[in-house]
Amino acid sequence: MGSLRWGILGTGGIAHAQTADLLANGFTVTAVGSRSQASADRFAAEFGIPTAHASYEALAQDDRVDVIYVSTPHPLHAPNALLALDAGKHVLVEKPFALNAREADAVVGRAAEKGLVVLEAMWTRFLPHMNRIRDIVRSGGIGEVRTLISDHTQLLSDDPLGRLRNPLLGGGALLDLGIYPVSFAWDVFGAPSKVFASGTMTQTGVDRQTAMILDYPEGAQAVLLTALDEPGPNRSTVIGTRGRIDIDSVWYTPTSFTVFDAAGAPTEHYSSDVVGRGMQFQAWELERLVAEGAGPNDVLPPAQSIRIMETLDEVRRQLGLSYPAES
Ligand SMILES: NC(=O)c1ccc[n+]([C@@H]2O[C@H](COP(=O)([O-])OP(=O)(O)OC[C@H]3O[C@@H](n4cnc5c(N)ncnc54)[C@H](OP(=O)(O)O)[C@@H]3O)[C@@H](O)[C@H]2O)c1
Repeated sequence: MGSLRWGILGTGGIAHAQTADLLANGFTVTAVGSRSQASADRFAAEFGIPTAHASYEALAQDDRVDVIYVSTPHPLHAPNALLALDAGKHVLVEKPFALNAREADAVVGRAAEKGLVVLEAMWTRFLPHMNRIRDIVRSGGIGEVRTLISDHTQLLSDDPLGRLRNPLLGGGALLDLGIYPVSFAWDVFGAPSKVFASGTMTQTGVDRQTAMILDYPEGAQAVLLTALDEPGPNRSTVIGTRGRIDIDSVWYTPTSFTVFDAAGAPTEHYSSDVVGRGMQFQAWELERLVAEGAGPNDVLPPAQSIRIMETLDEVRRQLGLSYPAES
């Protein structure tokens, strides 16, 4: 573990967080690439990274890089991932994996052709408390799971040109925040049989808030909410026929949860003890996959990242939300 040489593509907010977690956990970061030399230089100086490239292309061509972390706005995820794969690099791509399932499919197909690992940076999937919850759910610890209630609601910037509200940058609550509860629902239940969605748009024409119900073949349901202009609880509850799991706020970050039995008595309490923000776990997973020759990926296989995009595509179809940049 920690043997690959990482390159950071893009120097924005989440690139800072991911790089800090890589360095705090013994990973090797050898290069950064930005649209401008000044920004690459600043980022490299801040983190002590040896090489600063003035373009994403130069980063992709750097022989001292094995894996590239793509941290650009959503519409660039697929093109930037393809750039890295074509240069022979493994790729960790920020969520959402792409703008739509078609783009996601192209990325996964290219990685397979090249024999390279691609992983969606849905960091929550790889957090220790989520691993424990997955074990409880899969081992029948709360009986047959019937319901997931989950929100990702934040009060974010109202800048109409910023990436959160700008359709040209893939804005909207769904792709930025709503993907977390949708991905969690996929983790718990797999593929939905029906998707229902209703939302409200911003003046810029992206979704401001979206409510979703996902139905599953055995009658289970996920009830999900996302919004970008209100500070929500950010809690999740998984309910089964013999108990429930309440995940404390903020459920998608390293946090605590409690398992309750059918009578409402607590039977397990879990508290996370994580160094940094918790983005190192997805990096360890990528390094494990590379070490094992793109071996078994049970936590978030690329094929599932495509299917998650299909669910998001269907939600967007019902909202009437399309993006100018999508192919
Ligand atoms: N995992 C998480 O917890 C988490 C949290 C926040 C965001 N994200 C994801 O990470 C991605 C980036 O989010 P962010 O919050 O880091 O965004 P950000 O702060 O705006 O940074 C995005 C970076 O992308 C590059 N970029 C390339 N083309 C751009 C363009 N046309 N406009 C703006 N920036 C452009 C820029 O880097 P250069 O100038 O160096 O080229 C910029 O600094 C999003 O897809 C988001 O979903 C994930």
